[in-house]
Amino acid sequence: MINFKCNYGRVATVEAFGAEMERVPSYFEELKKSPMSGWMDLPESYDHEEFARIKEAAEKINGDSDYLVCIGIGGSYLGHRAAIEVLGGESGRTRLIYAGNSLSARELKKAVAQLGEADFSINVISKSGTTTETAVAFRVFREKLIEKYGEAEAAQRIYATTDANQGALHDEAINRGYQRFVVPDNIGGRFSVLTAVGLLPMAVAGVDIESLMMGANEEREDILDANGGRAAEYAIVRKFMNDAGRRVEVMANFEPCFAYFNEWWKQLFGESEGKENRGIFPASVIDTTDLHSMGQYLQEGARDIFETVLEIEEDDESVVVPEGDDGDGLGYLAGHSLASINRVAKEATIGAHRDDGDIPVLRITAPRIDAESLGALFYFFEMSCALSATAQGVNPFDQPGVEAYKRRMFKLLGKPGF
Ligand code: PA5
Repeated sequence: MINFKCNYGRVATVEAFGAEMERVPSYFEELKKSPMSGWMDLPESYDHEEFARIKEAAEKINGDSDYLVCIGIGGSYLGHRAAIEVLGGESGRTRLIYAGNSLSARELKKAVAQLGEADFSINVISKSGTTTETAVAFRVFREKLIEKYGEAEAAQRIYATTDANQGALHDEAINRGYQRFVVPDNIGGRFSVLTAVGLLPMAVAGVDIESLMMGANEEREDILDANGGRAAEYAIVRKFMNDAGRRVEVMANFEPCFAYFNEWWKQLFGESEGKENRGIFPASVIDTTDLHSMGQYLQEGARDIFETVLEIEEDDESVVVPEGDDGDGLGYLAGHSLASINRVAKEATIGAHRDDGDIPVLRITAPRIDAESLGALFYFFEMSCALSATAQGVNPFDQPGVEAYKRRMFKLLGKPGF
C-alpha cells in the first residue's frame, strides 16, 4: 500500500545495497527477540475487548462532553494528534484540547480558558505514570473537574491510559475508580499510536479506528511477506545516506495537515536512532509554505541533507483557479485545479533540490488521506524506523538520553531522591 522510490546511486552501488538488504532478515530476528517488539504484530493481535471499550467510551464522551482534555507528552500524544489533524479534525460533538505537553504556564492557562463553562472529560495518558509535564497538568484539570462535578462524577469522566500493573497513575486510577486502558508492557511510547494511547482520542474525534487498524495490518502483511519490502529499502537507504555524510533527513510534505504527522515522525526516528553519538537528525518542512523560508537553505545551504517527500496519490481536484480579468497575470492558470498546481510545484521542487541542489530525494507515497492509508503509514514508518536503527547498530526502543535533563531538573526542584 505504501510505495517507496529512490535512486540510491549517489550513495551506494547496486552490489552494496543488495548485500545490505540481505541482512534484513537478521535484523527482523533481532527485533523479534526484543522485549519491546509488541507493536510488530499489534494490528493483528490487538485486544478486541479493549477496542470495544474504547468505542463505548468514545460514544459516552461524545454524549456528555464538549471537550476531551488529552493530557500526555511525546509518544503519549503526538500520534493521535497527527492522525486527527491529517484526517480533518473532530467530526462529532467533542473537541480535543491538548495539555501536559510542556511546562508552559501560558499554554496551560490557554487550555483552561478554552474550556470555559463547557462540559468536559479527561484522558490522561502516561505509560510510566510519573511524567512531570503530564502529572502537573492532570492535577490542574482534575481539580477543575472535581470543582465542577464533585468527586464521584469526576471519577466517571477521567479515562486513564497507562501501564497494566504499576505506576502512580495506575494506582490512582484503581483507587479512585477511573476507567483504565492499557499501554502494553512490550510497546514503548513512540510505537504506541495504534494502542489505546492513540485509539481513544482518535475514536472520540470520529476517526474510523477499524479502518486504521485494517490499513496497518495490510501494510504489516505486505512488509512481512516481502521480507521487509519497501520499509526495509527505506531503512537501508537511510543507512547509506548516513554513511555518506547525509546526517539530516528533511521530511517534506505538500499538505499542511501533515504538520503534526511530521512531529510524530521526528520523535519516532529522533528518539529511536539518536544515541551513542550516532543517528540521522530528523527535520521537516511543509511546502510550498516553507519553500519561502527554509527553501533557500535546502537549495544552497550545507550539503549534509537528504530529503524524503511524503506524497498522497489521490488529490482533491475540487478547487479551480477562476477564469476572469487577467490583470493579475494568472490567465495561464485559469481553469487549472489547485491540486494540479501543487503537484507541479512538488515536481519542480524535487527537480531543483535533486538536480540543481545535489540533494538526494526519496519519495514515499500513500494512496489517499483516509484512516486506512494513515494506519498503513504509521506501520510503515514504525517498521522502517526499527529496521533503520538496527541496521545502524543502535537499540531503537530505549531513550537513555532523555533522563539527563530530568535528573538535573529534579535535583534543582528538590525532588526527594535526587
Ligand atoms: O517514546 C517514549 O517512550 C517517550 O517519548 C514517551 O512517550 C514520553 O516520554 C512520555 O512518557 P509517558 O507515557 O511515560 O508519560
